[in-house]
This record gives sequence, C-alpha cells and structure tokens, in this order.
Amino acid sequence: KSNAMWGGRFAAGPDAIMEAINASIGYDKRLAFQDITGSRAHAAMLATQGIITDSDAEVIREGLLTVLSEIESGKFEFSTALEDIHMNVEARLKEIVGEPAGRLHTARSRNDQVATDFKLWTRDQMDAAIQGLEALIGALLDQAEAGADWVMPGFTHLQTAQPVTWGHHMMAYVEMLGRDVSRFKDARARMNENPLGSAALAGTGFPIDRHMTAEALGFDRPTANSLDAVADRDFALEFLSCASITAMHLSRFAEELVIWSSAQFRFVTLSDRFSTGSSIMPQKKNPDAAELIRAKVGRIMGAMVALFTVMKGLPLAYSKDMQEDKEQVFDAADNLMLALAAMTGMVSDMTANVDSLRAAAASGFSTATDLADWLVREAGLPFRDAHHVTGALVALAESKGCDLPDLSLDEMKAAHSAITDDVFTVLTVENSVASRTSYGGTAPVQVRAQIARWKEALK
Ligand code: ARG
Repeated sequence: KSNAMWGGRFAAGPDAIMEAINASIGYDKRLAFQDITGSRAHAAMLATQGIITDSDAEVIREGLLTVLSEIESGKFEFSTALEDIHMNVEARLKEIVGEPAGRLHTARSRNDQVATDFKLWTRDQMDAAIQGLEALIGALLDQAEAGADWVMPGFTHLQTAQPVTWGHHMMAYVEMLGRDVSRFKDARARMNENPLGSAALAGTGFPIDRHMTAEALGFDRPTANSLDAVADRDFALEFLSCASITAMHLSRFAEELVIWSSAQFRFVTLSDRFSTGSSIMPQKKNPDAAELIRAKVGRIMGAMVALFTVMKGLPLAYSKDMQEDKEQVFDAADNLMLALAAMTGMVSDMTANVDSLRAAAASGFSTATDLADWLVREAGLPFRDAHHVTGALVALAESKGCDLPDLSLDEMKAAHSAITDDVFTVLTVENSVASRTSYGGTAPVQVRAQIARWKEALK
C-alpha cells in the first residue's frame, strides 16, 4: 500500500530496501519529547491565530500528551514504514484523536519540524556539556587547593624542565575547560533561533506567529530566512566542534594520568573505582577509564568530520542527506557526557603521591634555570653567559652522577668565581617554585589567587 502521508501521488509503496535506507526512526525516536513539545507549541499558535479552532488545538495538544506518555512508558510501537519520529507521532495522534490530527501539519513541513526538534535536543546537550564541564572544574579546583604547594616536575618534550606545583598543573586544565564552557555558551547563544514556521523552505501564506512559538520553545527569536532555517546544521557542527575540543583536552589529561599512574612514575594512585585488573597478571591495576577517555576524541572528532563532509556540497535548501546528522551528534553527545563524568570521578578519587612528585621534581637538574637566574641577579652576568656556566656545572654533575645541589662550593667556584654559598638556597625545588611569582606563574601564592578567582566565578 502507498504511504498514508503522501499516498495521493503514489500508486505503489516503497521497496523494502528503500524503506530500510530511508527510515530514521531507529535513532530519531530520541527526538520524541522535542517533537511533541514543538507540535504542542505549533498547535497552540495555530489556534491563537485563528488558523485552527481552539477545540481542535485542545484535542491535538491533549492527544500529543497521550502519545508522549505512551512513548515514555515504552508502550509505543514505532513503525519503520512511517520513516521517522515526526510521522510516527502524527500517525498515532490520528489513531487517538481522529480528524483534528490532520490539521496539525498546517503551515508546517517536516523540514522546519526536524530543524526545530534537533535544535531543541542539541541545545539541551550544550547545557549538559556546560554542567559536566563545571563539575569537572570543581573537582580540579579541589585537587588544586589541596596541592597548591606540592612540588612536581614540569615537563617540556616530556623531559624534566622546571619544578611546578601540583595546583598549577591542575589549574592549567581548569583554564582549558573554562574556555570550553565559554565556547559551548557562545554556540548556544548563536543557535537559539526558532526555525519553526519556515515550513518546507519558503515560509507560508498562513498568518502564523513565529514569535509566539519562539517564546514557547525558549528561543530568543525566529530565524530570519526560511531557506537558511531548514538548511542550517551549523548548530550541530558547532556542538561537534566544541565537543571535539573538549574531548581533545580530556584526552591530553587522560594521557598524563596513564603516564602518572605507571609504576615508573608513581605520581598518582587511581582509585579502584576507576581502574580494572588483569585476568592473567595478578599485580595489574590498569587505568582503563583514562585510556577510554583518551580514545573518545577519535569518535567525537570523527562525528564532526563526518557531518562536515555530509553538509559541504549540499545545495539549498533541505536534502535528505541531512538526515545523517543525528546519529553523529547523538553518539558524540553520549560519549562526551560519559567522558566528562568518568574524568570527574577519576579526578575526585585520585591521590597524588606527594613524595614521588617531590623526588621526581628534584631530579633531572630541574633547578638549573634557577642557578642561571642567580648568576644574573647576584653576580651581574648576562643571561647567555650564566646559561653557559650553568651548563658546564650540569655536565659536571652528570659526569659525577649527582644532582646540582650535591656539587661542592669549590666545584661551583671553579666554574665561576662569583658563586657563593648563597647559591644553594635557589637550588631547592621549594624555593624554585616559590620564586616564580609572575602573574600566572607556578608560585603557590599565584596558584591560590587563581583558585580563588575561579571559585568566585563559579558561584
Ligand atoms: N527524517 C527527516 C530528517 O531527519 C525529516 C525531514 C524529512 N523531510 C523531507 N522533506 N523528507 O531529516
């Protein structure tokens, strides 16, 4: 039999393969709530504008609530023949309320309907991402506060560079995730325009009120161009871009946790709750949560690239290609929320091994720069000369198999006569970090100031 929605034009129904490639109900059923919310707003507006009667609108709006409760209780029978969530809902509404159901689609197309539903869904996910990020920021702030003056090695090229504080390292991620929050907020503000009422592509001759549905659905205003409104998937691409950047940040931190939790580093101990064991090696405690978070960026960024590629050559306005937008965004959103929650749990639970951190910070000639700076400050050497003298002392210590503070004053003096006993005060890791008081530097006073600023901002 031909389709109930457009059977007038068709003598035969679709091939089974056509039905299979065409149907999106398998996944767009996740838009049920948004679809019904949008339809209820549309029906109320149609009645206010005198396009349908108040009693028809009432029947439609009530019937839609019944459909929603059927879906939410799992009683609803989704049909592939009805393609997508929009037609599944409308068909069921017809069964429940009869003739008035046929008036709901006045001055509307599935093109503006799906754009509206999908925007509402994506907007919620932007809010959820912001919430998840703020929870993670909170966990990082707690870690930073506890360890504002714990000393650890700072790396460049994953080689020991200079001592930094644990709090400083945690706060580096707070800054990144803070920018992620603002990116999601920007994207949300930009996308919050109502496509409903754009109809198929050209708008409609019915005297609709798009401001009314915009307000009912929490949009700031109606979209200003009906062609753009039904063809735009920028909002989904922006969500995926923001999500990709966040996932990339999580992945970098996850990589550090994998390294830090290894027996060779022992910087942190991850909780049992966020680790797994091995079925053969009894000693193993693996950082699987961190590894999976590290991996999630692959599929999230993959979703972004996939949707970009779908959209890039599409002529205006709607093309069915755009039905392929939803699975990418659904999957990326699910995995982003999971990664954020897992990272938040892991960060809250992890224990820093303060002694290992300090020992690692003191090795690898990490205070060589402090020695060079001392020569500049106390002996008046140009920095380049100080760098050279210090380099010679590092080479000497390396050949003796000791660290810089283990060299004798005589050995120091042999490298440069101006060196005095005072130099040893700058060679401790505590003094090294305490000296780095420039704005944004690693000194505990600076780190504490940044923690206070963030706590204030998050209130
Ligand atoms: N299921 C479709 C989608 O996700 C809804 C819009 C269909 N519109 C159309 N003209 N065929 O894009």
